[in-house]
Amino acid sequence: MYHPALKTPLCDLVGIEYPIIQAGMGFVARGPLAGAVSAAGGLGTIGAGTMTGEELREEIRIVRSITDKPFAVDILFSSAGGKNVAMFSKDVEDHIEVVFDEKVPVIASGLGNPAPIVERCHAAGMKILSLTGNTKNAKRLADSGVDAIIAQGYDGGGHTGRVGSMTLFPAAIDAVDIPVLAAGGIADGRGIAAALVMGAIGVWLGTRFIACTEAWGHDNYKNSIVDSDDEGTIRTRCFSGKPCRMIRNETTAAWETPELMATLKPFPDQMPNVTEWLGEDPYMAGRRDGKTDIGALAAGQSSALIHDVKPAAEIIRELMEQASEALGRVSGGLSGN
Ligand SMILES: Cc1cc2nc3c(=O)[nH]c(=O)nc-3n(C[C@H](O)[C@H](O)[C@H](O)COP(=O)(O)O)c2cc1C
Repeated sequence: MYHPALKTPLCDLVGIEYPIIQAGMGFVARGPLAGAVSAAGGLGTIGAGTMTGEELREEIRIVRSITDKPFAVDILFSSAGGKNVAMFSKDVEDHIEVVFDEKVPVIASGLGNPAPIVERCHAAGMKILSLTGNTKNAKRLADSGVDAIIAQGYDGGGHTGRVGSMTLFPAAIDAVDIPVLAAGGIADGRGIAAALVMGAIGVWLGTRFIACTEAWGHDNYKNSIVDSDDEGTIRTRCFSGKPCRMIRNETTAAWETPELMATLKPFPDQMPNVTEWLGEDPYMAGRRDGKTDIGALAAGQSSALIHDVKPAAEIIRELMEQASEALGRVSGGLSGN
């Protein structure tokens, strides 16, 4: 039995046992990972960002072959019409069609504003959660009618904002009238307990679930997270043109020099720029081929808290045990046992 405070409104909102969502992560978070997390009582998420509609459908079917429990799909709602959010890109329209067709229980929006599909989601009985890195955007998303906000702090892996997690979590909770989940810098049960004590209804964890048996990615990538300490990552624009937290290596160091900084291009032009400079696709070099010295290895500061690569079910169990213990400590020994 875990601490009773770990049964949160998130569990009821999306129909899960434990208040832990595995983050949508491009390349890394596919059917096998999402299925394993959901089967273990959390909410697994497929990161649709880099997939075609049909690839997404295939990954959804993999999840359903593993478990009949709820899961999520994370869509990057990039707009085709500049500030006109009513016009999504063709890829996004494909993802939207597939999630409705496949009746996916939970949608996460990792980028942009899903406002145009919120009513349709609710009419279909689907929940929708939206990621943000600041309170201004949290308010805008809440006004769009989404079910909960995921506040991701500066510490987090991948594309990340400027506000630190310890400030952002309570600030976002105060800024909106809907529930908030905490993300960025959480990789053990102490972080989960702290987020709940601050008032979050659950957590959205990325980096912890890269160092996971079922995650897609080369073992060298997973082990680079295990080997990283608290200063082992850097927020750099060198791969995508937008600030993105990565494991430090030769490529990130080279792009800190004034010579290369001067050639940096804005999103989305930096990707071909760095690919030409490197002579290969940095994402494939890092995640698929395990070239940790030069490749793009998205990961958060929470790498410092991760000491092993193990199956999702073990990660969930360990997180719940640690969170129970931490909550028991602050509530005078009440551990729920
Ligand atoms: C490898 C990687 C890929 C990511 N890709 C996405 C993505 O496609 N969509 C998205 O919403 N967030 C993405 N993120 C951010 C995560 O969803 C999450 O917010 C972040 O990892 C949380 O911080 P943590 O890594 O400290 O747990 C990515 C993060 C990582 C580490």
